[in-house]
Amino acid sequence: MKIDVFTLFPEWFEWFRSQRHVRNAVEAGNELRFFNPRTTTPLSAGQVDDTPYGGGAGMVMRVDVVDASLRDAYGDGGRPPRVVLLTPGGRQFDEALASELSRESGVALICGRYEGVDERVREHLATDAVSIGPYVLSGGEPAAMVVADAVIRKLPGALGHAESSVEESFSDALAGAPEYPHYTRPASYLGWEVPEVLRSGDHERVRRWRLERSRERGGR
Ligand code: 6GU
Repeated sequence: MKIDVFTLFPEWFEWFRSQRHVRNAVEAGNELRFFNPRTTTPLSAGQVDDTPYGGGAGMVMRVDVVDASLRDAYGDGGRPPRVVLLTPGGRQFDEALASELSRESGVALICGRYEGVDERVREHLATDAVSIGPYVLSGGEPAAMVVADAVIRKLPGALGHAESSVEESFSDALAGAPEYPHYTRPASYLGWEVPEVLRSGDHERVRRWRLERSRERGGR
């Protein structure tokens, strides 16, 4: 799949794109590209925002600037099936949406900035408006990273073992529940013990115990 991030701060993603699972996903044939609307703005002096109609504090990212950046990436047609505007007022991101996006051929992630983004971006350019939670960030970049990470780790080849995203938190294998608790050595530390069942070697008991613990943590 192709993931395209539209951001005024592509350097924020340098660390992200260097992470092992991201590099794996790219080496497996996926694409991760970055577009900076400031480099394609139709306005002079790299202008990307403007004062809000109706007055008020702060600046608003312009619709023509966002559209020009999308045209730069995709030409006049050929936009990906999902164009996601990251905005605190959007639909809350969850594992189901991550799965949905991971099955698309392409996803564009538009990072909002300043006080906001002209509403016509959401109305006419985006297919989805997504928030990562009920709090306000200074910009959509951390949110785009969250979404990209949750999507990329589902792509074949991103994780070390093909299985390792199948039985993880919130997956169908665990009926949508958070993951069961994990333990490793030492078996006892300061009197804190690893549950006996995990050391029993009885795989069926271990499987049932994990499913029960996972359910206790809030599955369906
Ligand atoms: Cl997507 N953007 C901003 N600016 N703040 C947020 C968010 C997004 N999701 C939660 N808070």
